Amino acid sequence: MSDRPPFDSAFFRQVLGQFPTGVTVVTAAGADGPAGLAIGSFGSVSLDPPLVMFMPGKSSTSWPAIEAAGHFGVNILAEDQEQMSSLFASKAGDKFAGLEWTAKATGAPIFEASLAWIDCEIDRVSEGGDHWIVLGRVLDLGVQREDVGPLVFLAGKYGSFHPLG
Ligand SMILES: Cc1cc2nc3c(=O)[nH]c(=O)nc-3n(C[C@H](O)[C@H](O)[C@H](O)COP(=O)(O)O)c2cc1C
Repeated sequence: MSDRPPFDSAFFRQVLGQFPTGVTVVTAAGADGPAGLAIGSFGSVSLDPPLVMFMPGKSSTSWPAIEAAGHFGVNILAEDQEQMSSLFASKAGDKFAGLEWTAKATGAPIFEASLAWIDCEIDRVSEGGDHWIVLGRVLDLGVQREDVGPLVFLAGKYGSFHPLG
């Protein structure tokens, strides 16, 4: 049996892109300043103990600083934070320049405009192909805004959430 799957990476992306995600910016207080990247692969894992997860790619330039810090903060982006997502999906030199943020207990930066936040310590890092699977223990969390809904990402496009009922 061949190891080659019966599809190419473009088709894999197209099919998996049919699954909508929220958008987060995962941050940490790195040794050389704040670090962060846009992450869609965020999810809640366990209530007792409280665990969440996200999956940074092995080519991420921000992940090594986050891993070395031993903690991370999750900014759940609001529907008016598309620019924030694009900035943190880039490889810009100082992504934090001019942004308003406060440090939570771990030191992780949380933006004033984020919908909600989760402050975590890294519990475990496992390998998942060309990504890492990062499990975080939740130390503290909160909702900052009630006025807007979440930013949503589907098939390469941003949108917002509209309840059916
Ligand atoms: C909506 C959205 C979701 C993303 N989700 C992930 C993700 O789950 N894992 C990942 O490694 N990169 C993800 N990215 C891409 C990274 O943000 C991008 O590769 C970024 O350049 C990484 O920055 P860094 O090199 O500073 O770590 C996502 C980008 C966008 C726009």
